[in-house]
Amino acid sequence: MSQTEKSRKILVTSALPYANGPIHLGHMVEYIQTDIWARFQRLRGNSCIYVCADDAHGTPIMLRAQQEEITPQELIDNMKVEHERDFSDFNVAFDNFHSTHSDENKHFSEQIYLAAKEKGNINTKVVKQAYDPEANMFLPDRFVKGDCPKCGTSDQYGDNCESCGATYSTTELKNPYSVVSGATPIEKDSEHYFFKVSDYADFLKNWVNGGAVQKEIANKMNEWLDGGLNDWDISRDAPYWGFKIPGTEDKYFYVWLDAPIGYIASFKNYCDRTGTDFDEYWKADSETELYHFIGKDIAYFHTLFWPAVLKSADFRLPTAVFCHGFLMVNGEKMSKSRGTFIQARAYLDHLPAEPLRYYYAAKLNNTVDDIDLNLQDFQQRINSDLVGKVVNIASRCAGFISKKFEGKLSDSLADEALYQQFTDASDSIAQAYEDRRYSKAMREIMALADLANQYVDEKQPWVLAKDEDRQQEVQDICSQGLNMFRAIMVFLKPVLPELAEKSETFLNAGELQWNSVSSPLFGTEINKFKALMTRIEEDKVNAMLEANKEQLAIAAALQAKTGGNKKVSDSQLGQDPISPTIEYDDFAKIDLRVVKILKAEHVKGADKLLQLTLDLGDEQRNVFAGIKSAYKPEELEGKMTVMVANLAPRKMRFGLSEGMVLAAGPGGEELYVLNPDEGAEVGMRIK
Ligand code: 2FM
Ligand code: ZN
Repeated sequence: MSQTEKSRKILVTSALPYANGPIHLGHMVEYIQTDIWARFQRLRGNSCIYVCADDAHGTPIMLRAQQEEITPQELIDNMKVEHERDFSDFNVAFDNFHSTHSDENKHFSEQIYLAAKEKGNINTKVVKQAYDPEANMFLPDRFVKGDCPKCGTSDQYGDNCESCGATYSTTELKNPYSVVSGATPIEKDSEHYFFKVSDYADFLKNWVNGGAVQKEIANKMNEWLDGGLNDWDISRDAPYWGFKIPGTEDKYFYVWLDAPIGYIASFKNYCDRTGTDFDEYWKADSETELYHFIGKDIAYFHTLFWPAVLKSADFRLPTAVFCHGFLMVNGEKMSKSRGTFIQARAYLDHLPAEPLRYYYAAKLNNTVDDIDLNLQDFQQRINSDLVGKVVNIASRCAGFISKKFEGKLSDSLADEALYQQFTDASDSIAQAYEDRRYSKAMREIMALADLANQYVDEKQPWVLAKDEDRQQEVQDICSQGLNMFRAIMVFLKPVLPELAEKSETFLNAGELQWNSVSSPLFGTEINKFKALMTRIEEDKVNAMLEANKEQLAIAAALQAKTGGNKKVSDSQLGQDPISPTIEYDDFAKIDLRVVKILKAEHVKGADKLLQLTLDLGDEQRNVFAGIKSAYKPEELEGKMTVMVANLAPRKMRFGLSEGMVLAAGPGGEELYVLNPDEGAEVGMRIK
């Protein structure tokens, strides 16, 4: 940015992650992409506020909380803590991370709805929808399954068949069943509220073709627009976890109405905390910039409904919506069964965050193409680019400066023309960041790192260092090397903030800014060099994959346990398919113990749980077990059974559950607590 250019005021968002599941590496593409962009803007001297929130409403969250016997509020609170920890450990620096289940979001959702209503953009219609007569609730498409009407494959969702690819409506499914209760759904009428998107057809046509979205997305949207716009159903019937629609008793805003409003709400929360002027960013004629980073799968919501809703309620429009593609792992879609559905926590437990940030940056551009995380390439690339090239420049030069010149850098550049190439690259790299062409930026930065390494290779300071008469040259060459390293770290700072910070400490000359490149260090003193980054070893990547598989298996087991509501066909009763084989080492990780049930009690407010006090010999544990429908508490007291003693404790609404008791059976009344044979004693380990 030139000195005269006014600094920009920018607000950026990433899509709000659902509060019913953990963050995985697919999510991280977007948060890393946005965070790099926000950090780049700040490094250039612009103001860039980055807000996000958990997307905390909707049927899946309501049902998951029910299954876990916690309140939706507890579920979303727990998830928010996990999400924020994952993001922060990946150095994603939100200025605010909020929740759509917040006072601010309720306020803006109501305000926006009432404004749209006032303008005549809302109407109501009676619609027929699948209804679960046992669970007494309307069922979203994802919650009705059955046999494909075309090929007969069982267990297909209400809208398309994964086996033959046919698409159809829920009512066409054969032998349909509710995923919630297993009951056969009926059709029921209900009045729904609609936002008339077609009122904004002309406006959208202009907006879409005015440069606010990428070409690929604009083409797709033009198809939708030319095909005619349907009214958008923005209501859901009770029971629903969300905000009630003003003026109704049992209608709620559909989660996708209040989710993007969460961007506004999170920003408002930020304003209230920091004294920032809300209107300056959201009033209709705002001069600030607003960018939404999203995945291509949710473009429809952000480039059709969202601008129309904002327009209707007289809010400003996004300056642009930036769509990215999906993450593939080793060339294929992420897959739970192959273990490539990598959870953020599994990655972070074994590998540092910054290499992934760099790898994504090296792959990302401004198109909606998918990017591939090839784990072997990842390892090689980090070792060669970051450790072998970038950090290597500093480690080759620092020692001489510290040992021979008391840490002091030379007063001039040994090769000004070479350094000029670094200064000259600045604009092109900045433009690449600005355009989200990070892979181009990384290529240009690595070309500079090659130049710097070639320079040191040619000058061979380690040879000159032995010659008493050539000490000045050694200092000059190494100072030149460190100044080139410093310029590279400026360029990489948006991607590698942690490495940049360590480098700032090492260089000992203040915080790096974009324009630091044009003022190299002369005569200042550096600190002693400490390893800035270490190589990635293959065993770490493998350990991460193994741990991830375990986490996926535990999550699947929990889902099978808590989601014991999936209808089991009669022929399958009592014969769940045998799970995939595991290695002995996997089995050995489970600490199974013989225990005695000392106490069994009802839990106030829980329909399925009993609270058990278990004796393990040298300690007692508190466990909540979902066996209330099968046992009276007094039948259990004094019984010996088997527990998983090393299951991570789980915070439940009623207290901490410190393990799991083993029981078998399809569920309900048919559940049998396992009993060890006579002779087994309390505390014995199962082998
Ligand atoms: O697709 C999703 O994961 C949604 N939770 C994204 C919401 S983005 C915004 F609209 F809130
Ligand atoms: Zn089919």
